[in-house]
Amino acid sequence: MSAPLTGRVAIVTGAARGLGKAIARALADDGAAVAVADIDAPAAEATAEELRLKGAQAVAYEHDVRSERSSQELAGTVLSDLGRVDVLVNNAGVGPNPAPFQNLTELEWDRVMDINAKGVFLTTKAVAPTMIAQRSGRIIHISSVVAKRASPNILPYAASKWAVVGMTQTMARELAQFDVTVNAVCPGVIRTELHEGVVSRMSAMTGKDQDDVWQTFYDRIALGRLQEPEDIAAMVTFLASDKGRNITGSAFNVNGGMEFN
Ligand SMILES: NC(=O)c1ccc[n+]([C@@H]2O[C@H](COP(=O)([O-])OP(=O)(O)OC[C@H]3O[C@@H](n4cnc5c(N)ncnc54)[C@H](O)[C@@H]3O)[C@@H](O)[C@H]2O)c1
Repeated sequence: MSAPLTGRVAIVTGAARGLGKAIARALADDGAAVAVADIDAPAAEATAEELRLKGAQAVAYEHDVRSERSSQELAGTVLSDLGRVDVLVNNAGVGPNPAPFQNLTELEWDRVMDINAKGVFLTTKAVAPTMIAQRSGRIIHISSVVAKRASPNILPYAASKWAVVGMTQTMARELAQFDVTVNAVCPGVIRTELHEGVVSRMSAMTGKDQDDVWQTFYDRIALGRLQEPEDIAAMVTFLASDKGRNITGSAFNVNGGMEFN
């Protein structure tokens, strides 16, 4: 029996490290050819090389999700290099600089929204015409548990992740007629560079030591443990597979019971 994604082509943004890297690896393990897109070109190439060494077809692309030109170039180059695009995972993101919102600057709002929200719009806008022409496609946005619950002191980050869920529902409605599904995955807490940075900045803001900040996260998770990048990747590969064909417009929690809605 062939792997479930054999013959499919997937683009993963922010795939050089963290969740994106685990997602790229899982899609490749399921047989997809993977475009490893990231603003950090050398790290993207290292990830693509790691996948190729395991026998996968993987190509690295330098891509800045904040740029329409970069997103259009990515979509065009992947199509000419790999022949089609079946799966788009909008994973690239940055974490917040925590502070009460009245102390946050316009610069911080723009920094987070440009990557986490506008980046999802621009990359999907660039790739959607290919999926529409194919009359098939799977688009999966990585949102967050903060799109499901009140999260003080991270207003631009929370707004960006709620925006991603809003785009999920809107895009799902618009693209359903072309048999393109659009869903979001909402992770809880995973120990990546992004979250290590958040904890260190929360520690600086509150004066608590970092272990105590980590404990505040554990305390909110019903299962009492963090997620691994592979837990998020498993939901993504399910949604990308034929088993996910009748799911669209949904935002799935993978958070160990940190939030149930
Ligand atoms: N780690 C967590 O606990 C957690 C929880 C919920 C949601 N998320 C979301 O998961 C996604 C991945 O997070 P992570 O923890 O793996 O982060 P990470 O910092 O480990 O990796 C993020 C990747 O995105 C890339 N990137 C940053 N800016 C970019 C840009 N402008 N264009 C293209 N690529 C860019 C980085 O180079 C990096 O490779 C993000 O959207 C994040 O908000 C993470």
